[in-house]
Formats: sequence, C-alpha cells, structure tokens
Amino acid sequence: MLSNHLWWQHGIIYQIYPRSFLDTNGDGVGDLAGITHKLDYLKWLSINAIWISPIYPSPMADFGYDVADYTGIHPIFGSMADFDELLHAAYQRDIKVILDLVPNHTSNQHPWFIESRSSRDNPKRDWYLWHDPHPESLSVPNNWLSVFGGSAWEWNEHTGQYYYHAFLKEQPDLNWRNPAVQKAMLDIMRFWLDKGVDGFRVDVMWHMIKNAQFRDNPPNFNYQPGKDPPYHQFIPAYSTDQPEVHSIVAQMRKLLNQYKERVMIGEVYLPINQLVTYYGENGSGAHMPFNFQLIVAPWDAEHIFTLITEYEASLPKEGWPNWVLGNHDQSRIVSRVGFAQAKVAAILLLTLRGTPTIYYGDEIGMYDVAIPPELIVDPQEKNQHGEVRGRDPERTPMQWDASNNAGFSTTTPWLPIAPDYEVNNVEAERDKPDSMLNFYRQLILLRQQEPALQIGSYIPAGVTRNSFAYIRQLHNRRLLIAVNLGHTAEFISFENIAIKGQIILSTQPAQAGNHIESRIELAGDEGIIVVLAD
Ligand code: GLC
Repeated sequence: MLSNHLWWQHGIIYQIYPRSFLDTNGDGVGDLAGITHKLDYLKWLSINAIWISPIYPSPMADFGYDVADYTGIHPIFGSMADFDELLHAAYQRDIKVILDLVPNHTSNQHPWFIESRSSRDNPKRDWYLWHDPHPESLSVPNNWLSVFGGSAWEWNEHTGQYYYHAFLKEQPDLNWRNPAVQKAMLDIMRFWLDKGVDGFRVDVMWHMIKNAQFRDNPPNFNYQPGKDPPYHQFIPAYSTDQPEVHSIVAQMRKLLNQYKERVMIGEVYLPINQLVTYYGENGSGAHMPFNFQLIVAPWDAEHIFTLITEYEASLPKEGWPNWVLGNHDQSRIVSRVGFAQAKVAAILLLTLRGTPTIYYGDEIGMYDVAIPPELIVDPQEKNQHGEVRGRDPERTPMQWDASNNAGFSTTTPWLPIAPDYEVNNVEAERDKPDSMLNFYRQLILLRQQEPALQIGSYIPAGVTRNSFAYIRQLHNRRLLIAVNLGHTAEFISFENIAIKGQIILSTQPAQAGNHIESRIELAGDEGIIVVLAD
C-alpha cells in the first residue's frame, strides 16, 4: 500500500543535536560514536531517519552553525571514519541519515571569508556581501538587523567596507547571486550525496538571497518594545524571502533528483501562504519546507483546527505535508503546554497527515532546563540578555539512565542536566507503562502499522471550544482522532458523520478497548485514537 510513497513520506524523522546525545570520549560533549552507539535505541523506538545538527569543523560561535569546512568533521565529534561507521551502522538498521546544510553563511574562520576580507580585489571578495558605508550617514549601509542583536553590518577596518551577517558577526552571509558560490555549495552537497547521505535539512532557507538594491526594511508597527525581540522592529521584507531564492533552491533540488530518493527539508519560518512557495513551482523546490505551525501557534483548539485546514488547503498538488513539535531553537513542548498536553501534542504530531519530526528527548518528556546565568552559552542569549529567550534550556544532555550525568558522559557536560534525571530517563521510563517514552513508542508503532496514518487522507470531523477531531482514511480503513486541548471534560458530537468504533489508544490507558458511538466524551487533557467500523 505504501509502494507509491517514498521513505521520507511514510517515515518518521528524529532530530539529534549531536553535542547533547551521547558523549563516548569523556569530554562532556556528545559525538558521532555516541550516535552510533544509540542506533539500537532508535531502532527500538521505530523511527526511520535521523537528522543530525551540524558536525563540521567550526569555531562553535553558534555551536556548529558557523561552518569552517563543509566537507570535514569537527574533532569534537570524531573523524570521517566515525562518520562512515555511523552511516554504515545506520544503513544496517534501515535508518536513513539526513545532514544539516548551512548554505546561507559560513564561519568567519572559513578560508573563503579569510580570503574575502583580505583585500577588495581578492577573487573571493564577491563571495560575501560587502558594502560601502551609507553615503549620507557614513555609517551602516541600511537598517537591516541581525537576528542575534544589533545591526547586521560589521565594519572591516582593513578593507574599509561593511559585510552583512544575518546572525552573528562570526557568521558572514554568502553572496548567493555569485555563480561561483552556487557551484561551490552544490559541489559540497554532491560530496555528501556521493558518500550516501539521504538528504539535507537546509538551514535558514528563506534567508539565502537578499534584495539586490539592499533597500531598507519597513518598520513593524506592531512591534512591542520590551516584549518582542529587537529583530522584530522591522519587517524583513528585503533581507529575507526574496523571489530569487526559489531558483537557488531549484538548483539544489535538481542535484538531489540525480540521486535516488534523497530528501531536502527547508528551515523556513514564514506564514503558511509564503511557506508553501518553498515547494517550488511544479515540485521544483524543497520536498518539505518545515511546517512549524504547532510550535508558533497558540495552543488553542479552534486555532489549531483551522490552521490544519488552511495548511492542507495551501499545499501544492504534489506537496507533501510535515509537522514538527520542537527543535534546538524552540522551547520544548512539555514546557510550552505541560506534561499532560505534551501527550496530546504527540498524538497530533504522529497522526496528522505528513511526515513527523521528533526532537531528541521529547519522547522522554524532557523540558526546558533552567540554566544558571554563569553557565549560559547560547550566543543569541548572551548578545541580547533579557531581551530574548535563550536556547540552552532545550539543548541539555539526553537523559539515558540514573547513573552519574544521566549516562550521557563520564564528566561534567557542556550544559547542565535536568535535575530530575534520576527519575526521568530512558531506562526508567522503559519499565513504566504510562511513561512518555512508552506513550511515544506505542504511537509510533501504531503509525508504522497503519498505512491510513502514514499516507491516508485527512478529513476534518468537528471542533468544540477546547477539542477537535479528524479522520485519517485509506480505502475503507478509517481512524478517528480526537484531542482535548483543555483541562476539563468535553463532548464532541458528530452530526453529519457516522461515528462508531473502538478506542485503540488513549492518553488515559483505561479507555483503550472502549466503544464509542456518535458522541465522544473526552476527559481533560485526553486524546484518543478510534478505529471506525466499516
Ligand atoms: C538556524 C539554526 C539555528 C542557528 C541559525 C543560524 O535557525 O536552526 O540554530 O543559530 O540558523 O545558523
């Protein structure tokens, strides 16, 4: 039944933040051998692919998102031999490997940038975005801001020009209008594809091309000082999401199409109508622009029910949907909605139509760990202390067992471990029937056994104040999913749809096996999956 679909359509992706997964060499930072070591766990969990955040040589100003060599491995993570071993071990277990590609910017320590900043007539000068001072103010060329605080322009005394950096000044943006840059990055992609990686998650895809005239961004009249991050003072109308970006993405896609079943996922934080343009015309863009709606939307039943319909309706004909609950830049789902609702969220992630991506540790209910000020390392927070939320809390080490350092490392880890790791860890949760881990695993196994959940159609079924329901259908197999996003009981009645069936999974285990007919009562924080009678 799945034969018309590719692995990345019916499969489940698991994001690994390598610094925090498992440290095998006792330096407090996770490594590639650690990932290899835990592949059997991931196989047990029944996921199909791992996306690994950057593992390349990097000064680590932005923890690997500042790449100094795109075809190497940072020694902190191991060697190329370790990577090859991981790739091989993953294939033996039928687990696909997706790498993080960071094409928008390099590290300022990348040889390309070192050359580029050496003189105005260096052949690599035009690989980055250099600009003279503004003719009147004699200061920065325009009002573009860095996502990580302050102006996005950094002065280079030696050559008397500014360069543009959308993120840290240690992350200069490449000039994607330059064909030499395009070729270099495609060659890098080819290098990894030839090695056998199954695809890329492309970092900040919507930033890759900027307005050719470097026009000022318009002010954001909804900006709330003190509440919104300073970056939101202007609408990044000219510094992001430019029409020309699609031809760049199309070049990348064309390359991937030369290989068998490789996937390109784009990191794109944009409203739905703009997001779906990243599928490209006639499927010439990303296979899946990440859909972050469940992260950015308020946790409100009507709102989410509507956005699912909107998203479904906006997808281009061949566009395959996807859903995400968390990643290394966002507060964890347990911290956003609470432990009980995180199970409801897991039901949505794993039963909505489209490929789910699970962030490491969400399956054991990890939450944002409070980081004492002296231990903060995230540059976004260090640069804008008190103005933005830091990202360290969602990046803490995976809790494997109750031993020292949660079994993550033999030494003090690079970020603190959750204080309750002795209770909340993989080993302890495996033996607890109602743990988050067992709930995730049951859901995953159910999805893997139910083609209707993997590739079936999505049919909205009803919404009340705090809950909603939908059907996933393939041929005559129909599953009804009903979720209560509130904390008190709620009834859903179905007037136009015949609803009769048996609950096969619920956040309240005692409900499993119960029969329902025409009306559902959901307890507070409850989510259920029902097999409907033919
Ligand atoms: C992406 C990454 C984030 C990084 C930024 C700059 O948003 O997910 O972690 O800081 O790009 O590379």
